[in-house]
Amino acid sequence: MVRLLFVCLGNICRSPGAEAVMNEYVNKEGLTDLVQCDSAGILGYHMGERADRRMRHHAQQRGYRVDSISRKFNPETDFDRFDLIIGMDHQNIRDLRSMAATRHQMQKIHLMTDFCCRIERSEVPDPYYGGSDGFELVLDLLEDACGGLIEQIKSEELFGFPV
Ligand code: 4NP
Repeated sequence: MVRLLFVCLGNICRSPGAEAVMNEYVNKEGLTDLVQCDSAGILGYHMGERADRRMRHHAQQRGYRVDSISRKFNPETDFDRFDLIIGMDHQNIRDLRSMAATRHQMQKIHLMTDFCCRIERSEVPDPYYGGSDGFELVLDLLEDACGGLIEQIKSEELFGFPV
């Protein structure tokens, strides 16, 4: 079993979107017994809330169901519970690294756009204060990265064995 945790700042826009897109790809590939996804936020401002209405709307238009409830990243448990901890932007990565206690935990931290194959962007930008275009760009990047992630999980690239 491979456990993936997607992390952004608020856990109401980007990482719930990533979780929804990845769940869809995992279903489509018949990997539900092998890959498990969750998401969390660096901040706890939106804890207990559903994802942002705009994210749910734009994702639904592409056929994804965003149904996660916001929670805060917990370094005490999440570093151990997950194999990969995937941040959306450079600040997420800095924040996650500052919470890692061991080299093993540090090595679990990855940047979402590093899994992209088509779009050249260095991070998934925060769409919260912007308009619809920002949410569409986020979804484009999430689809690209989740496609790359699925391929890497299926090959031996990520874990040294095919899952
Ligand atoms: P997210 O977007 O990190 O993609 O969930 C944000 C949501 C809320 C806030 C910032 C970013 N906020 O400051 O409340």
